[in-house]
Amino acid sequence: MSTPNVQTIAILGAGQMGGGIAHVSAAGAYTVLLSDVTLERAEKGRFDIELRLGKAVEKGKLTAGQRAEILGRITPVEGLSRFAEADFVIEAANENEALKKSLFRQFDELCRPDIVLATNTSSIPITRIAAVTRRPERVIGMHFMNPVPVMKLVEIIRGLATSDATHETTLQVCARLDKTTVTSRDIGGFIVNRVLMPMINEAIYALYEGIGTATDIDTGMKLGTNQPMGPLELADFIGLDTCLAIMEVLQAGLGDSKYRPCPLLRQYVEAGWLGRKTGRGFHIYAKS
Ligand code: CAA
Repeated sequence: MSTPNVQTIAILGAGQMGGGIAHVSAAGAYTVLLSDVTLERAEKGRFDIELRLGKAVEKGKLTAGQRAEILGRITPVEGLSRFAEADFVIEAANENEALKKSLFRQFDELCRPDIVLATNTSSIPITRIAAVTRRPERVIGMHFMNPVPVMKLVEIIRGLATSDATHETTLQVCARLDKTTVTSRDIGGFIVNRVLMPMINEAIYALYEGIGTATDIDTGMKLGTNQPMGPLELADFIGLDTCLAIMEVLQAGLGDSKYRPCPLLRQYVEAGWLGRKTGRGFHIYAKS
C-alpha cells in the first residue's frame, strides 16, 4: 500500500489554479510537468508564472538566480503525453464532475499504479471520482485556495477508500510546498466552503433585503471581523458562478433549505455579472 518517493509532479490544467500549484511545487524543488489541452496553453501557464516571479525579483523577495531555478523545474507539456513519468498527479481542470471522471479514468490507464492521483476540487465528492479508477485508495482531494502562492492553506479531503499511506504522502507534499493542511471528511463542501459559502450567501441576502449597501456590508465584515476582503468582494473574487455552483452542491448534498442560494445571486449569474472576471459583480472592476 506504500506510495513512491515523490520527485516529479504532473499538474493537469495550466490556468489560475494549476499555474499557482505549479509555481509552489517548483518553489518546493519538485520537478513539474505543467499540462494543458494544447502546448500553447501550457506554455502560457508557465509564462504567467515567469511574470509573477519577475515581480517578486523586482520587489527584492527573490533573486534572479532563484527565479531561474524555479522556472527551470517547470516543463510545459501537451495533454497527458508525459504522465507516465509522474510520481504524483494533481488535477486542476474545470470544476466539472464528468470532465474530472474522464480525466481520472485516463490517469489510471497512463500513470504508474503505485502513485497518488489528487484532484483540486472545491466541492465535487472525492469518493465518486475515486470510484472510476482501479486505485480508489490512492485518490485524494487537495483543495488549494486562490491565489495559491499567497494562501497558506490546502484542505485535504479523504474519500471513503483513501488509504493512510496516500494521506501521509499528500501531507508530505504539502509540507514541501510550505502549506498548512487541514483534513476534511468527504461531505458536501468539505470544511472551508461549508462555512464560507453560507456566510457569503447570507451577505447576499443582506443586500437583497436592503439591510445595507454592498460597501456597508463589506466594510462592516472587513473591519468588524478582521477579514482581508468583505464577503461580497470575496464572492466577486471567487466568481459568482462558482459561488452559486457550490451553494447548489451544499443544497443538493445536505438537503437542508438553509443552503438555498439567494435569488439575487442566481439573477447576477443569469445576467453574466460574474464578479471580477467579467468586470461587474457586487462591485464594478476595471476589466483585466
Ligand atoms: N498570485 C500570486 N500572488 C498574488 C496574487 C496572485 N494572483 N495576488 C496577489 N498576490 C500577492 C501580491 O504579489 C502581494 O505579494 P507581496 O506581499 O509579496 O508583495 C500580496 O499577494 C498582496 O497583494 P496586494 O498587495 O496586491 O493586494 P492585497 O494586500 O489586497 O491582497 C489578497 C490581495 C491576497 C487577494 C487578499 O485580499 C486576500 O487574502 N483576500 C482573500 C483571499 C481569499 O480568501 N481566498 C480564498 C478564496 S476561497 C477559495 O479559494 C476556495 C473556494 O473553493 C472558493
